[in-house]
Amino acid sequence: MDKPVEGGTGRISPTAYATGYFWYKQGMSHPALATAQGRRLHYAFRPFIAGTRIFGGLSMDALLLARHRGIDGVLSRAIEEGRVGQVVEVAAGLSPRGWDFMRRYERRLTYLETDLPAMAATKRQLLEGAGLLSARHRVVELDVLAADGPRALEAVMETLDPKVGTAIITEGLMNYFAPEVARDVWRRFARALARFPQGIYLSDLYLDNRNNGAVVGAFGKLMQAFVRGRMHTHFNCEAQANQRLRDCGFREAIVHQARGIPAVRDIAHISGADRVSVLEARA
Ligand SMILES: C[S@@+](CC[C@H](N)C(=O)[O-])C[C@H]1O[C@@H](n2cnc3c(N)ncnc32)[C@H](O)[C@@H]1O
Repeated sequence: MDKPVEGGTGRISPTAYATGYFWYKQGMSHPALATAQGRRLHYAFRPFIAGTRIFGGLSMDALLLARHRGIDGVLSRAIEEGRVGQVVEVAAGLSPRGWDFMRRYERRLTYLETDLPAMAATKRQLLEGAGLLSARHRVVELDVLAADGPRALEAVMETLDPKVGTAIITEGLMNYFAPEVARDVWRRFARALARFPQGIYLSDLYLDNRNNGAVVGAFGKLMQAFVRGRMHTHFNCEAQANQRLRDCGFREAIVHQARGIPAVRDIAHISGADRVSVLEARA
């Protein structure tokens, strides 16, 4: 297994190989993003995922699918309504979203996939090797915890067109951060997005009042052991999510439940998928 070179949250990076392989297995990704390391981790996690279903009644597969398709659905709508023409995916890992959205929207979109240096280098190499990058679709280094310097969010956002509506996305990232760290990151996102005519932030979200103790309890314990760190849920309910994000500088926050997103409706009833929401915060 590649050792992440970064200190701090670089320990989270190997999980991206496993999810990268999961997206591929589900027929949602390009073969270039299915790595041998991802395959190994995917199969190593399978018994735990099966256990979560048998003993906890939760389908982690449905949860992952709901979070990914849910973000895709809300992002597609924002692009089709003309609100977004640039996307910065933070902590993109080996997610297929950049490839998928560029083939769907082509010239209507600029897409920056970003991650810590080691993961960004891996992804760039994989996509470049398959001839899948272009001037409008790039992979760049970004450390979401950096307050300044070339890897800070601000430096990356400066490379974008200030006249075009912009989205920042995180998927599978924020629950690794303690509440005060998450708040700093959201403040940074709100500040960065406020400079564009429209600015939205999209993320997967797990509310405590949706019985997510079980999610953090079962799968979370496995992830906590794997990344040697704690996982956190950040909000009890929709109203609290809305208030906290406004405190961080967003104008408003909408919490989309899985069953309300057309792209997720077919699986939204499955235990696991029903625990995920998609946060859309507007700057
Ligand atoms: C669980 S993976 C999720 C990857 C992808 N979003 C997905 O859903 O398949 C978490 C990702 O966060 C990245 N990451 C961890 N700390 C980060 C940081 N401080 N800044 C940017 N990315 C970070 C890791 O390198 C890894 O790719």
